[in-house]
Order: sequence, then structure tokens, then C-alpha cells
Amino acid sequence: KHYSTDSFLLSKPLIEFREKAREVVAKKIAPLADKADKEGKFSEGHFEILGKEGLLDVKVPKKYGGLGLGNIGSTLLTEEIAYGCGATATSVSGHTSLYTGTLVTFGSEKQILKYIKPHLSGKYVGSFSLSEPENGSDAGGLKTTAKLEGDNWILNGSKMWITNGNLPGGMILIATTDRSKQHKGINSFIVPKPLENATVHRLEDKLGMRASPTCQITFENARIPAENIIGKPGDGFKIAMTSLNSARLGAASIGLGTSRHSIDLALKYLRRNKIHPITTADCTTSSLKLAEMECRAQAARLMIYTAAKLLDENHPEATKYCAMAKVMGSETGTFCAHQAMQILGNEGYLAENKVERLYRDNRVTEIYDGTSEIQRLVIAKSFDEPSKL
Ligand code: CAA
Ligand code: FAD
Repeated sequence: KHYSTDSFLLSKPLIEFREKAREVVAKKIAPLADKADKEGKFSEGHFEILGKEGLLDVKVPKKYGGLGLGNIGSTLLTEEIAYGCGATATSVSGHTSLYTGTLVTFGSEKQILKYIKPHLSGKYVGSFSLSEPENGSDAGGLKTTAKLEGDNWILNGSKMWITNGNLPGGMILIATTDRSKQHKGINSFIVPKPLENATVHRLEDKLGMRASPTCQITFENARIPAENIIGKPGDGFKIAMTSLNSARLGAASIGLGTSRHSIDLALKYLRRNKIHPITTADCTTSSLKLAEMECRAQAARLMIYTAAKLLDENHPEATKYCAMAKVMGSETGTFCAHQAMQILGNEGYLAENKVERLYRDNRVTEIYDGTSEIQRLVIAKSFDEPSKL
């Protein structure tokens, strides 16, 4: 068991929660993953299974009917889902960290009651819409506009790469109300979908996470009620960035799930072929690879838990630690899948073996939720400030 050493860091309810998540994923999600990947099709079934098992409300406070397990609970869940199906983990992370997470942290009581409940059963899926055709990393330069006219915000612009954006459910939309104010003119809104004059143009055909839908959506004078702004005017960029800290932990945890699964598959292969990498007498190159995979995965795990704890405490160093966790988790996932494929050789390269899917799926965790380069910029920026730890 690659995780048993972390039990001193986690409370009993968290460990029990993880056990439950692991069981549900092994029985009900993992068996569907290869087919969903091959068909490149999102399955509502995955979300409804998780909803029925009470696994979609992990970050929602108890007073709103959720589990109230915060970012720590969410990272444990995401790792478990990613072990079985990276695409489901991507869609769940978008839903949990970026949709319900944004609402429970920054929404009003009325917004939470109205826009969260229907999303806990898995029938409606949440999304978060920041990136645009011409703005990915430079999020503050976004061009989609929101203009207040009477009782409505009028939305215009185009969003791209939006996970779950084509599915019925709420979307957190990040738009500018005044471009001259740069990031201080940016606001976050709740957009219920489907919505008149909000058109989904296409679904992307991708290398991995193929069963997690990624779409482009255009707003042409689409209307939402004035009360759908989240927080105070001008707070929207900060709100989006704070939610992204949580999503970055999601991407990191997907990397951790990939790492653990890659290690398990490599070990299974070596044992099946009676290659014993653990004995010092037979210290093959595979055993050295496995040792490196294990070191990096356990280091990433500690980094992810530390960052999740700091984020749950709203600690001033949380942003930096989430960025470090994202780099560690995502790059370790890619490293482990790469090494596992090498250990399995041509068997690992075959579509019928899971290493191949892990390898393809994990790659994007170094790109979405802010690229590895952007995370390193965030970490480097922190050197301008004295440490608050
Ligand atoms: N947490 C909290 N606050 C943050 C923050 C963070 N991670 N990053 C920035 N801020 C705050 C700053 O403190 C600053 O606040 P003040 O106004 O109080 O000073 C404000 O936001 C502006 O910050 P910067 O001056 O640093 O802004 P910038 O324009 O120079 O660039 C950036 C910041 C780090 C490059 C940012 O644009 C960024 O993170 N880009 C990456 C975009 C991204 O992550 N996209 C992900 C899309 S969602 C997704 O991908 C989901 C999915 O796959 C499912
Ligand atoms: P660019 O910003 O064009 O960057 C290109 C390259 O230049 C990268 O290597 C980048 O690291 C580097 N670079 C850019 N700026 C700098 C800099 N200042 N310093 C150093 N290097 C730099 N977005 C959403 O809003 N919501 C979603 O749900 C969502 N889901 C996604 C799902 C998938 C499968 C994918 C692929 C993307 C998704 N995204 C989503 C978008 C994602 O967050 C962006 O792709 C990502 O932020 C990078 O933006 P970009 O692709 O435009 O790259």
C-alpha cells in the first residue's frame, strides 16, 4: 500500500472517506474508463454514480447538506477517481473545485441554496469559464464583457477550452465590466445553462482526458439576472484565482493518482514476469526506476497535503504551496506513467494496457489550471515577499 504512511497526517473520518471513495471507484468508475476513453464521450453515468454515493459534495459545508471535508477531502477524492479514470477526475475537479467550491467560498447564502443543491446529485455538472481563444496564461487580459442593463447582465464574447461547458448545469463565468481597470474590472458571474444566446460551438478532440468534454462557447447578448454577480464588483479576478488554487490541487492529485496506478501496474508486470525488483541481489534498472517513482510520488503527496491544509486555513502562503503542489503532482504523474511504459516495454505501449491511457491522460495536468511555467512564475514571485510560514 503506497499510502499507508500518510495516516498520521489524516483524521479518521478522512481515512474512512478515502476508503469509501476507493471502493466506489474500483467497483463502479474504473471498469467504465477504457470504453469512455475510446469513445471519447462523457458519461453522465459517472457523475450520477458519484452523486448517489455522496461523493460530489465533498467541499460543500455540512449546513448545506455536504460532507464539509474541505480541500484535503477533495484532494483525496480526486486522487482516487484519477486512479480509476483521469477524465472523470478532470470533470469532477472542475465541478468541485471551480464550480461548487467557488460558490461555497464566495457566493451569497441565496446563491448557494439556489445553485449548489441541484449539482450534488450528478444530474447537473458545474463548469468554470476563464480561458479565451486569445487568452490562456494571461488570464487578466480576457475580453469577454458583462454590461449591466436594467435587471440583467448582458454577456458578449467567446470562451475556449471549457471543461463540462457543454453540459447542463451552472457555469462560473469570468468577464470584464471595464477593461481600462485591468484585473480590477473583472467580475465572476453564475450562468445557468442551457442559456439563450450562449452557443456551444465544438467539442475538442484531445490526446487524453478524452471522456471529459472540453468546449468552446460564445455569448451573443446573452442575459443573466443582475443578482448573479459573485461577491463585490471588482473582486472577480481574485475570486477566480483563489478558486484556481484549489483546482491546482485537483490537477496535482490527478498526477498522484496516475503515479500510484503507474507504480502498481509496473510492479504487477514485473511480478508476473518473475522479475523481482525489490531484492537487492537482483537490482535491475526497473527497480531503480520504481524507487525513483516512489520517492517522487510520496514527496508530491506530502506537498499536496501541506498545500491543501494551508488553503483550508486561508493561509497567506497557500497560493505558493498550491503552485508547488501542482508542479510536483502533475510532473510526477507524467514521470511515473513514462517510466511505467518503459518498464512494460511494448506491452505498455499497447492501447489495451492502462499505462498507455495514464500516459496520455496525465500530460494535460501540466497545462490546464495554469501551465507548469505559470506555476513556477507564481513560486518565483513569492521570493519578493518575506515568508509567512
Ligand atoms: N490566489 C489568490 N490571489 C491571486 C492569485 C492566486 N493564485 N494569483 C494572483 N492573485 C491576485 C494577486 O494577489 C493580485 O491581487 P491584488 O490586486 O490584491 O494585488 C491580483 O490577483 C493580480 O495578480 P497578478 O498581478 O499576479 O496578476 P498577473 O496578471 O500578473 O498574472 C498570473 C497572474 C499568475 C499569470 C495569472 O494570470 C494566472 O494564474 N494565469 C494562469 C491562468 C490559469 O490558471 N487558467 C486556468 C483556467 S481553468 C482550468 O484550466 C480548469 C480545468 O482545466 C478544469
Ligand atoms: P498560452 O498562454 O498560449 O501559453 C503557451 C506556452 O507559453 C505555455 O508553455 C506557457 O506556459 C508559456 N507561457 C505563457 N505565458 C508565459 C509567461 N508569462 N511566462 C512563461 N511562460 C509563459 N480553461 C478554463 O477557463 N476552464 C476550463 O475548464 C479549462 N479546461 C481545460 C481543459 C483542457 C483539456 C485544456 C487543454 C485546457 C483547459 N483550460 C480551461 C485552458 C487552460 O487553462 C489553458 O490552456 C492554460 O491556462 C494555458 O493557456 P494556453 O493554452 O492559452 O497557453
